[in-house]
Amino acid sequence: MASCCKHWWHASVYSIISLLLAFLAISTALRSNHKNAIPATKPVARGLQLNVSRALRRAGFHTMATLLQVSPELFLSSPNSTIFVIKESAISYVSIPPLLLKDLLQYYTTPSKLSMNDLLKKPQGSCFPTLHRKKKIAITKIDARLSHIEINNVLVSHPDVFLEGPIAVHGVVGPFSPLDPQDVHQRLNFIKSPICDNNSTLVSDFLEPENMVEWRRIIQLLSSYGFVSFTIGLHSVLDGILEDHASLSTATIFAPPNLAVVASSSLLLDKIVRFHILPRRLTYKELTSLPVRTLLRTLVPGQDLEVNLKKGLVNINGAEIAAPDLFSSEKFVVHGVSRAFELTYQFS
Ligand SMILES: *[C@@H]1O[C@H](CO)[C@@H](O)[C@H](O)[C@H]1NC(C)=O
Ligand SMILES: *[C@@H]1O[C@H](CO)[C@@H](O)[C@H](O)[C@H]1NC(C)=O
Ligand SMILES: *[C@@H]1O[C@H](CO)[C@@H](O)[C@H](O)[C@H]1NC(C)=O
Ligand SMILES: *[C@@H]1O[C@H](CO)[C@@H](O)[C@H](O)[C@H]1NC(C)=O
Repeated sequence: MASCCKHWWHASVYSIISLLLAFLAISTALRSNHKNAIPATKPVARGLQLNVSRALRRAGFHTMATLLQVSPELFLSSPNSTIFVIKESAISYVSIPPLLLKDLLQYYTTPSKLSMNDLLKKPQGSCFPTLHRKKKIAITKIDARLSHIEINNVLVSHPDVFLEGPIAVHGVVGPFSPLDPQDVHQRLNFIKSPICDNNSTLVSDFLEPENMVEWRRIIQLLSSYGFVSFTIGLHSVLDGILEDHASLSTATIFAPPNLAVVASSSLLLDKIVRFHILPRRLTYKELTSLPVRTLLRTLVPGQDLEVNLKKGLVNINGAEIAAPDLFSSEKFVVHGVSRAFELTYQFS
């Protein structure tokens, strides 16, 4: 590992303090931004929260106990939950940037109550949803006879630290997702989760979506060519794209100079970025040889792009290809276009 990044791995008093401050900031922001989110903790929930905190402290999970007290809604936002906790000695994650912490902690909570007994009844390879969007955790090893369970290849060392009302808490020996300092630094796909099928069964142990290396190169390249807003947009929605298109093995990306929506709605941003990506590789030469008015399928279902030739130049939905084949590899190609494509209908 490069020496530049070592500090990511070393939790310090400083980072624990900054973590707590970050949590205060995040939870305040959450309270004021989401009017329909969980209202300030109700008295019953408060008693429960104190009890969970106390149990965590008793079992030696001090940082988690404090986090729970400072920011309960991050853990207790679902009616029933199972929370997996790590001891301080195992948390390299305290040194990650504050805004990523919320994502990371949500990945340790599954929205149903599962006691150790419940877990031991599940078959090996069972996947569970988490509070972190579509990322799942999975039982990678189980031996009911020995009460041995590994989740994401991490041993459950402290079963039923807390088990009361709608909440179960278990201690695990290490992080569910190995943190690669570079991914954390780039804030890209930094939670690496197992891949599960529709039936909540583990398909592949871990972790890296196909072609991640190439996506990183593309983002770096776009950024270095000055496609600032599109780079930011692509960067912020890429995890979601890769979750929805697990088998996206080739792509054409049209990079516009500006993307006006970056700051508006994240749903719209997601859609607009997807509208600039084709699930197939088409070089400039291949685009010129397509029949006039060919429709190209994008990553937005039902929203195609139309290719035309105007005076021998490729024109896509009225935009010119200003920088053909800006990046080209075996599976990907990137073209710079003169302006962003507009969705024909935006809210549906
Ligand atoms: C918290 O624990 C105490 C004593 O263990 C118990 O009497 C109380 O009902 C618990 N509170 C909640 C909300 O579960
Ligand atoms: C929470 O758990 C209780 C008891 O197991 C169950 O009755 C209830 O439906 C669950 N709620 C949700 C939203 O899953
Ligand atoms: C999962 O289910 C959805 C709809 O229920 C279906 O469209 C999709 O093809 C399924 N995927 C797999 C891998 O079976
Ligand atoms: C889903 O998984 C269960 C066991 O977990 C299995 O019995 C069932 O056949 C599976 N269904 C499909 C469609 O694979």
